Amino acid sequence: MSPDPSPLLLLLLHLSLLLHHTTAAAATPTSSPTPSPKPPSRSSPISPSTLDPKQLLALQSLNIPTSKDPCSHSPSISCDSSSPFRHLLSLTLANCSDDVALSLTALKSLSTLTSLSFLNCPVSPIKLPSDLASNLRSFTAVASLNKLTGVWLSRLQNLTSLTVSHVAVSASGPTIILSGMKSLHSVTLSNTNLTGNLPKHWHSSNLTFLDLSVNQLKGKIPNSLTQLENLLHLNLSSNSLNDTIPSTIGDLTSLQNLSLSSNSLSGPIPESLAAMAALTHLDLSSNQLNGTIPNFIRDMKKLKHLNLASNSFHGVLPFNSTFIERLDVFKVGENSNLCYNHTVLGSKLKLGIAACDKHGLPLSPPPAKDSSADDSSDGDYDGDEDENVGEKKKRSSGPSKVVLGFAIGISSIVFLIVFLVLLAKCCK
Ligand SMILES: *[C@@H]1O[C@H](CO)[C@@H](O)[C@H](O)[C@H]1NC(C)=O
Ligand SMILES: *[C@@H]1O[C@H](CO)[C@@H](O)[C@H](O)[C@H]1NC(C)=O
Ligand SMILES: *[C@@H]1O[C@H](CO)[C@@H](O)[C@H](O)[C@H]1NC(C)=O
Ligand SMILES: *[C@@H]1O[C@H](CO)[C@@H](O)[C@H](O)[C@H]1NC(C)=O
Ligand SMILES: *[C@@H]1O[C@H](CO)[C@@H](O)[C@H](O)[C@H]1NC(C)=O
Ligand SMILES: *[C@@H]1O[C@H](CO)[C@@H](O)[C@H](O)[C@H]1NC(C)=O
Ligand SMILES: *[C@@H]1O[C@H](CO)[C@@H](O)[C@H](O)[C@H]1NC(C)=O
Ligand SMILES: *[C@@H]1O[C@H](CO)[C@@H](O)[C@H](O)[C@H]1NC(C)=O
Ligand SMILES: *[C@@H]1O[C@H](CO)[C@@H](O)[C@H](O)[C@H]1NC(C)=O
Ligand SMILES: *[C@@H]1O[C@H](CO)[C@@H](O)[C@H](O)[C@H]1NC(C)=O
Repeated sequence: MSPDPSPLLLLLLHLSLLLHHTTAAAATPTSSPTPSPKPPSRSSPISPSTLDPKQLLALQSLNIPTSKDPCSHSPSISCDSSSPFRHLLSLTLANCSDDVALSLTALKSLSTLTSLSFLNCPVSPIKLPSDLASNLRSFTAVASLNKLTGVWLSRLQNLTSLTVSHVAVSASGPTIILSGMKSLHSVTLSNTNLTGNLPKHWHSSNLTFLDLSVNQLKGKIPNSLTQLENLLHLNLSSNSLNDTIPSTIGDLTSLQNLSLSSNSLSGPIPESLAAMAALTHLDLSSNQLNGTIPNFIRDMKKLKHLNLASNSFHGVLPFNSTFIERLDVFKVGENSNLCYNHTVLGSKLKLGIAACDKHGLPLSPPPAKDSSADDSSDGDYDGDEDENVGEKKKRSSGPSKVVLGFAIGISSIVFLIVFLVLLAKCCK
């Protein structure tokens, strides 16, 4: 019976893989993308009626192909089912070429639209005919229409959904745009360079989504905003809002997303925030908020994303590792007077803040933000009065990688020799 060399072979393979892993900074081979087969285009039954000829002409003037019935063949168009002619309900103009221009004639014949979208379509805006303006329920302009004014947008008074982003909007503030729109459910005015203050009065009680991020809005967040009790999403990040967060913010009890990051907000996190039981995403980073981080945050069961970085919080972080590991995102760095309890959190987590001394003050300056891959040589807890935590700590900071790789290399070679000798013996 000959000795079976396969266990040895496996060991050898394992070692060489390890060697490869430790020393080589080799790029992992990427699996080549498999071309997905095109779905067969559905042949639709002959439609009961065709599009209104006037609307067909209008589409042609906007460079939209109409050789096939656009109501059933264009993904950017939907129609009603009236007869003898169908009428347009929604239209998306995307990736427009330079020669596309809006004409009043075309827009007049498109007044049956309830939804109109411009995506990457830098045509010049013209005044919308009033029939179209009052019919629209949904309006979207993303990187389109060159430049809009608040007055132009304010005519769309029956909107339930307004989305404008990456379009410069000149207006004295959001108030002029929004004050006449009483049925709004969703508002996005983001990356529009909008100036002015937040509205003092809100007329759309059904508002669930409000994104005014990346503008130049200034002043205080008005208390009246917290009366929008149906809000699920509030994003005011990257503006110049100042003063304190309204103490009534917790009245927004349905809120799931709250981002006030990158403003100039000061003062504490309001106690009322404890009432926001549905909160999943809380971003207050890059402000001048101060005080301690309230204990109630650890009782927010739905929370997945918590960013409190770059503020002036102080005191002991009120979280244990169970809480932190449950989150997808957790950031508290760049709060120079904030520290964590080493007894509670150990040293495994990289938090970007220092450990506390027994008085709850940071022990040493927080570690540099740029902590490379797995440099586990930080965690300098000298002077910590607490005895060493009974936890298993990662002790990977033994021999350096180079030494390790060398050792594995040597042992692989030895094994190879042994293997070859064995192989030679058995095959004699
Ligand atoms: C517009 O162009 C972008 C990229 O050039 C593409 O990803 C997108 O699908 C296009 N949109 C439409 C509706 O054609
Ligand atoms: C809003 O729509 C209603 C019909 O649903 C219409 O009577 C009214 O004139 C519209 N208002 C505006 C300001 O367009
Ligand atoms: C906003 O203003 C800045 C600086 O003036 C400019 O670079 C940016 O392109 C503007 N954004 C829009 C959407 O026009
Ligand atoms: C709010 O929504 C409800 C139900 O969806 C509707 O009955 C009501 O008219 C809406 N209110 C406004 C101001 O649009
Ligand atoms: C909350 O924000 C996330 C990330 O931007 C988004 O996917 C989600 O739809 C938002 N939730 C609501 C209720 O708008
Ligand atoms: C808030 O807006 C910023 C900038 O537009 C964006 O990066 C961020 O993801 C938004 N937050 C949420 C929760 O959607
Ligand atoms: C907030 O900014 C405004 C100017 O936009 C200023 O008049 C006001 O004093 C500031 N308030 C605080 C509390 O800093
Ligand atoms: C927080 O900052 C404000 C000034 O913005 C100051 O009046 C207040 O005393 C500070 N509170 C704490 C707890 O540091
Ligand atoms: C972490 O804190 C929560 C309460 O906030 C508690 O229920 C849980 O048992 C704690 N976990 C550990 C490991 O101490
Ligand atoms: C750290 O936690 C331990 C155990 O919970 C506690 O005895 C100690 O007082 C805490 N230290 C600080 C500075 O809060």
